[in-house]
Amino acid sequence: MNELLAYFAGEMPGINAFLAAEADTFDGLVREVARHVLLSGGKRIRPMLTILFARVMGGQDKNALPIACAIEMLHTATLLHDDVLDQAETRRGKTSAHVAFGVTQTILAGDVLLALATKLGADYDTPRLNSLLAAGTMATAQGEILELAHTASPTVDRAAYLDIVIGKTARLIETACRCGAALATPDRAAEDLAGAYGLNLGIAFQLVDDALDYTVSASEMGKPAGGDLREGKMTLPLILLLESLPKDEAAALLAKLRDQLLTEEEAGRIVASIRQKGLAEKTREAAQAYGDLALRELEALPLSPERVVLTQAAEYVLTRRK
Ligand code: IPE
Ligand code: IPE
Ligand code: MG
Ligand code: MG
Repeated sequence: MNELLAYFAGEMPGINAFLAAEADTFDGLVREVARHVLLSGGKRIRPMLTILFARVMGGQDKNALPIACAIEMLHTATLLHDDVLDQAETRRGKTSAHVAFGVTQTILAGDVLLALATKLGADYDTPRLNSLLAAGTMATAQGEILELAHTASPTVDRAAYLDIVIGKTARLIETACRCGAALATPDRAAEDLAGAYGLNLGIAFQLVDDALDYTVSASEMGKPAGGDLREGKMTLPLILLLESLPKDEAAALLAKLRDQLLTEEEAGRIVASIRQKGLAEKTREAAQAYGDLALRELEALPLSPERVVLTQAAEYVLTRRK
């Protein structure tokens, strides 16, 4: 994955400098919250995808940095809000913003970042970009709400799980790819190709994340491990476990999840059982199928350094261990 690493190394300083400069335009606490989360790392996958698709679709003469960073701000805002919803205490290896600065402050700072993303998009005077940003924001919030609904009422339902994954994660990654293409060209077929790559990559990304939640320690992830089970999240490893259990045992477990009655000891046993049955690996296999769909989209593109990096991005998503 040398090309991917070199490409990221080349673009990261520009992305980080842009984000830092924008954070510094805020006053007071918003500035502190924005700096806390924007400058604490992050893989920057989404802005890279925007830049890559802008170039691969022929937009070399366009400045993709503002729209790429708008996508990262949107993503960052969803992380601020998500950690409130999930009551998660760490993010990107640091104390979560809502713990460090307060819940109200963090929600409002997230709103400011959402608005700034919209403004950065509007400054291009390309209405399609705003339409895409708005659609991505809406889908993400709706995915988060759908997940909440299914947390309060757990079911063994793969279709609902896929809807949640698409909404809370894959649509924004699709948006990142579409924005790059839309900046380069008004050709909707080009944008759709980018979107199909991003949607499938995004599904694979979240499936791998859900597998990692059952296999990787908190210090490696930079966010709580085993958190999904404790939060009552119906992710694929748990759905597969429930499918493997006798009906009455599955029903008893679902009831405990619903009533939040799972003890630490029981949670530990479930995590161990998921590992022992290889269900995180099965989840990775499901991710592979979506990764392959993403890769297939790239075949229609002319060979270029960006196409190579996009291929490696799919490989990275499927093989990452943290
Ligand atoms: C975290 O996204 C939220 C999910 C969709 C799982 P990333 O794993 O891309 O987070 P950062 O930006 O690298 O911190
Ligand atoms: C990921 O949500 C999607 C968003 C943040 C909108 P999760 O709750 O699954 O992600 P992590 O584990 O907190 O990164
Ligand atoms: Mg979360
Ligand atoms: Mg969440």
